[in-house]
Amino acid sequence: MGKLTGKVALVTGAARGLGRVYALRLAQLGADVGIIDVNLRSYADYEAEAAVMTADTTMDEIRALGVKSAGAEADVSNKDQLFTAVKAIADALGSIDIVVCNAGGGSGAPTENSPALMDFEQFDLVVRRNLYGTAHTIAAVAPMMKQKRWGRIITVASHMGIEAGARGTYAHYSTSKAGIRHLTMAAANELGAYNITVNCIAPGYISTGRMDQSFQKRGVERFEAVTSLGRLGRPEDCAGTIEFFATDLADFVTGVTIDVTGGTVGKLGY
Ligand SMILES: NC(=O)c1ccc[n+]([C@@H]2O[C@H](COP(=O)([O-])OP(=O)(O)OC[C@H]3O[C@@H](n4cnc5c(N)ncnc54)[C@H](O)[C@@H]3O)[C@@H](O)[C@H]2O)c1
Repeated sequence: MGKLTGKVALVTGAARGLGRVYALRLAQLGADVGIIDVNLRSYADYEAEAAVMTADTTMDEIRALGVKSAGAEADVSNKDQLFTAVKAIADALGSIDIVVCNAGGGSGAPTENSPALMDFEQFDLVVRRNLYGTAHTIAAVAPMMKQKRWGRIITVASHMGIEAGARGTYAHYSTSKAGIRHLTMAAANELGAYNITVNCIAPGYISTGRMDQSFQKRGVERFEAVTSLGRLGRPEDCAGTIEFFATDLADFVTGVTIDVTGGTVGKLGY
């Protein structure tokens, strides 16, 4: 018996990267875990992500741990697609108890998209993917959790949602992630009466296939230098906080953001 045996979890954006590691951690704790991703084989985009896969999909990796899994392809920024996918997962695994709203990411170069020089196509794309995607996911799962009077909603921001970069760049991403933190607090106030907690994780510089390319291009040392612990984060560093929020360890914690950055806040130079 694991701590989450009998629970049904859903992780968005879990075909690779951080979401995949969150999904595997929840499965190791005994939950049945559903996956929603715009591409359930997105790991193929990055050699490093493909190299760590132990099966054809994250769902197969979860099943190998002895629990159930189901997957659905949907773009979280599209409300109808997302609601249809959530229903498909709930039909396959049962009503959802735990959700990690992880699907997200930026667009363009880290040195672009400051407020006065914003590319509004990219602004629209990124705000829809991150902020609307999280809002859609919360709205889709909340009715099931309210009915059970138990739920754990975990949202995903970023250190960039806590602090603006010194030159104000990547503001489409940072403002969407700041919005997620506020949405988290609002949802915690709304849903607390139903014994549903809503908390947020704000990762720092975490080594995933996609981010490693960017770290290497710009020089890993530069990112290590602004991290108190002197190294890039690993997905497992973030999975520990997901486990905390999802299990009884955090039963009386709601509306908070935990930054899992190794100490970058206050030092974001770009
Ligand atoms: N890696 C980091 O350093 C870091 C730092 C701070 C925050 N984050 C956040 O953590 C989350 C995961 O980051 P990652 O590095 O693992 O990213 P990643 O790009 O490796 O993985 C993201 C996954 O989400 C899916 N996805 C993207 N847009 C989607 C959409 N519209 N609908 C459905 N699925 C979609 C992708 O197909 C992919 O499988 C993101 O929200 C990101 O903003 C990451």
